[in-house]
Amino acid sequence: EKGGFDHFMLKEIHEQPKAITDTFRGRMLVEENMIKMSSIDDNLDKFLNANRIIIIACGTSWHAGLVGEYLFEDMARIPVEVEYASEFRYRNPIITNKDVVIAISQSGETADTLAAIKLAKSKGAFVYGVCNVVGSSIARETHSGAYTHAGPEIGVASTKAFTTQITVLTLIALKLGKANGSLADHTFKDYLKKMQLIPRQVEKLLKIDEHVKSIAAVYKDATNCLYLGRGFNFPVALEGALKLKEISYIHAEGYPAAEMKHGPIALIDENMPIFVIATNRGHYEKVVSNIQEIKSRAGKIIAVVTEGDTQVREIADHVIEVPDTEEALTPLLTTIPLQLLSYHIAVMLGKNVDQPRNLAKSVTVE
Ligand code: M6R
Repeated sequence: EKGGFDHFMLKEIHEQPKAITDTFRGRMLVEENMIKMSSIDDNLDKFLNANRIIIIACGTSWHAGLVGEYLFEDMARIPVEVEYASEFRYRNPIITNKDVVIAISQSGETADTLAAIKLAKSKGAFVYGVCNVVGSSIARETHSGAYTHAGPEIGVASTKAFTTQITVLTLIALKLGKANGSLADHTFKDYLKKMQLIPRQVEKLLKIDEHVKSIAAVYKDATNCLYLGRGFNFPVALEGALKLKEISYIHAEGYPAAEMKHGPIALIDENMPIFVIATNRGHYEKVVSNIQEIKSRAGKIIAVVTEGDTQVREIADHVIEVPDTEEALTPLLTTIPLQLLSYHIAVMLGKNVDQPRNLAKSVTVE
């Protein structure tokens, strides 16, 4: 059942090229230069006339929502707010029938997300679901939606659900951007072409597993780690930290790289590993200067860089290369080595990777 892998988590990490492909298959039509999603077409006026989009979710799905915020604002120029479902529902939120709510959930059973959906509906919002489990409570409770085609995710630590959620959000953002004229035709086309390459690029990344494992061996005994990223990769930093916390029980925090100097920099010493996402398109020079700040305080730097990078390689203690793509699509690649890294550290520490202590696959209590 684990398909020859030692753990479901590793199997699911390796399933991502297929899961991403399955999620855009039939929707992303590169030849026709279009994205076909009837759930969006049928409700296009609601999306295009929306005052704003509010994304609600928990945990990893909330991180996918944050990537969604960058995607929608960048590609479709629609204002977005991303909320923890649990905070949203208890705040007497201001929602009207001019708002579109997107609820994201792998399981489709998360109690707080479900309750937030009911609240948004009662205030007249149109609620769209992005779920993995077909026929789940959230899939049924939402007005419309799109499934991620990740297949069953057994490991408690979410992996392929995250990348397929980002895939669906990217398709929606591109489709809306084209529909409202925010994206030029050739830009849209270029994105589709780049998106089509992603599964092969993820496959390539999975092949550097041994390299990632050797880095895991160096830092497995750390007690604290920082994850830094900017822009589209800020949520990836949060997700990288969550993965490490969940399965290896090592304390980790994700931060927007520039926030480091507003506090967490005080933590840095020679025992502190800092994972920095420094791909070459997203505010690269700024991230390089953040890395220099870490270096001058003797922190250990593990950088996720674009293939061929030389500048960061000179300063970092370790680099992990990811293939080149559009900045907006980099989360689909930069996430992969961070998943592998957490996995290997947890295995090396002898932790229960698939069923970490105190955690449930779906949180059906509020
Ligand atoms: O099923 P959902 O996507 O609604 O679950 C939300 C969170 O409980 C979930 O992502 C959790 O944070 C995972 N354990 C993360 O790996």
